[in-house]
Amino acid sequence: MPSDSAAQPADAPAADLAARAAELRERLAYHAQRYYVQDAPEIPDAEYDRMFAELQAIEAAHPELLTSDSPTQRVIGRVLDGFAPVRHVVPMLSIRTETDTTPGGAIAFDARVRRELELPADAPALAYAAELKFDGLAINLRYEHGVLLQAATRGDGETGEDVTQNVRTIGQIPLRLLGTAPPLIEIRGEVYMRRDDFERLNERQRERGGKTFINPRNTAAGAIRQLDPKALADKKLSFFAYGLGDLQGWAQPDTHSATLDAIAAFGLPVCAERAVVQGADGLVAFHTEMGAKRDALPFDIDGVVYKVDSIALQKRLGFVTREPRWAVAHKYPAQEQITRLNAIEIQVGRTGKLTPVAKLEPVFVGGTTVSNATLHNLFELRRKGVRIGDTVIVRRAGDVIPEVVGRVPGARAGYVPNFRMPRACPVCGSRVLREKGGIDHRCTGGLFCAAQRKQAILHFAGRRAMDIEGLGDKLVDQLVEGALIRTLPDLYQLANEDGMARLAALDRMADKSARNIVDALEASKRTTLARFVYALGIRQVGEATARDLAKHFGSLDRIMDASLEQLLEVRDVGPIVAQSIHTFFEQPHNREVVEQLRASGIAWDEHEGAADAAPQPLSGRVFVLTGSLPTLTRDAAKAMIEAAGGKVAGSVSKKTHFVVAGADAGSKLDKAHTLGVEVIGEAELLAMLEEAGAGGSSS
Ligand code: IVH
Repeated sequence: MPSDSAAQPADAPAADLAARAAELRERLAYHAQRYYVQDAPEIPDAEYDRMFAELQAIEAAHPELLTSDSPTQRVIGRVLDGFAPVRHVVPMLSIRTETDTTPGGAIAFDARVRRELELPADAPALAYAAELKFDGLAINLRYEHGVLLQAATRGDGETGEDVTQNVRTIGQIPLRLLGTAPPLIEIRGEVYMRRDDFERLNERQRERGGKTFINPRNTAAGAIRQLDPKALADKKLSFFAYGLGDLQGWAQPDTHSATLDAIAAFGLPVCAERAVVQGADGLVAFHTEMGAKRDALPFDIDGVVYKVDSIALQKRLGFVTREPRWAVAHKYPAQEQITRLNAIEIQVGRTGKLTPVAKLEPVFVGGTTVSNATLHNLFELRRKGVRIGDTVIVRRAGDVIPEVVGRVPGARAGYVPNFRMPRACPVCGSRVLREKGGIDHRCTGGLFCAAQRKQAILHFAGRRAMDIEGLGDKLVDQLVEGALIRTLPDLYQLANEDGMARLAALDRMADKSARNIVDALEASKRTTLARFVYALGIRQVGEATARDLAKHFGSLDRIMDASLEQLLEVRDVGPIVAQSIHTFFEQPHNREVVEQLRASGIAWDEHEGAADAAPQPLSGRVFVLTGSLPTLTRDAAKAMIEAAGGKVAGSVSKKTHFVVAGADAGSKLDKAHTLGVEVIGEAELLAMLEEAGAGGSSS
């Protein structure tokens, strides 16, 4: 990265200003990639903002210096009349879909490819690039001399729509490529919305009583095709590259997998969950492995994609109509299904909120059988117009609670009354109230209500919070009903001798089980700040917000003492969330709970925030680059090593761990041999980064 030279006053000589503007653009592009793609910023946000403001000032005073790749141009544009058609130079194909979700689908594909290549039965296994099938919208990004000039949807494959203005607002998509870019390259991939961004969006909508969105895919696709860019502002979109389109003046690597590495080195996000596998067995293993990981991914996938890795073989295989013979999509069970709504019950949550829960005709969705799904609140239920007996759409994706997202239109058999909220809490009988102008109905019982006490404890102990293993529904019921626990800190009292005895007395629990709970309580004390903040169950503070708070403030005391203004500076924290956090820590009894929990030995590393953002598998390793690498520019290789925590030094010494050598390597290579330093090539470097999961993904 260019070093930070002094700011130029906006009335400095024109040549100096032009140079300064170019430097700022380059530095801002670099730091935007660190921030959006690698999730590993090197500089504080304030420093980025300062450079941004300086560039804006120069461009305002000298409009002739403005360029289309300037980060200042990622702004919300004007309302469009329509999208101009874009004819794809290289058609955007679709892939043949293998609907057999068993391993059979992978085996059939491998057999077909081998047959079409006329390989003898004893020929060695073929290498395949295995990837995820992202569930979003296909986009073609056209870069000329490294500058993003056009973004287009797939359309019918021949002609798409020009959505450049909207795509430019996606922070993960570079307006200028890193390193040395070819005269022309089209990069193809999927615009999608992460599940947490989708949940956040819907939570905000619910908060305002607005319309909620069905799923991340439709939301992302809808957002990109919005004529009014303001409608895009609250929808955070992401991108994964998976291939190429038109190309000039670039020697494409020999394999698809190496092409993706090169695309990552240009600064585009490429998903790290990919592999080069051998033969049908390798495909089956990948399908199984990703199927097991699917729920834990931060975004929806509807399957995996297999591609013959060798570009030469891809060319030999060619196409049938609009589908390449060298690729196939292998599906997973759908995350949305329809079923019958049998009844609606009320559940009382941790904050007293009454949630209507749909009792469903059991249905297999997202890989498990679902018979309960949330309907969120009365208003959403009414807006969706669901009534008992209806056929409804259920969505279950990842760890998110299954939900009813809508009803399938159709006639009802006779009159079905509209659902009503009860006036008294079904658990404790306290009055149910709805705040003036609010959406939610709440039980007014507070901690008198056993349901609220139980839910607060279950939330605290949850896997994504303090992760107290074994503290499940049934035990919490017993603990609350047996009056062993009234407040959260009481939980850790169970870890002392007396508590252990009381636990063991519960329903004649075996000593061993009681011991396990005590051990789990002890183990849970070592946690992270983000988990602890999430575990407290502050209204409006989900996992993502808790993480943002931990990252931003770095210490619990600073979060507790933050003013409203300071809270509003946190990414994605708006007035409602800020108010809720502030109010929570204003209450003396909440502070007391926090102090008691800390006194019981709960601890975390302060300032953990940035460290847990990206894995640092090469940390402490020193690399020296020499010669020209086959696909990576020196800057790209350096950026990738540093992103994984490694260091790049200028000269070889005994402290060097690896010398990465390319063509025409000179004296540095000789020195490495003299000192006995390990010499590796680009492929080995990429393998190291890949193994470390640092292949340029933001996931
Ligand atoms: S490759 C010639 N790779 O699936 C092959 N497509 O029918 C071109 N998709 O809408 C596509 N993940 O947007 C490819 N890893 C992946 C993909 C992927 C999702 C989408 C693509 C298109 C559809 C293909």
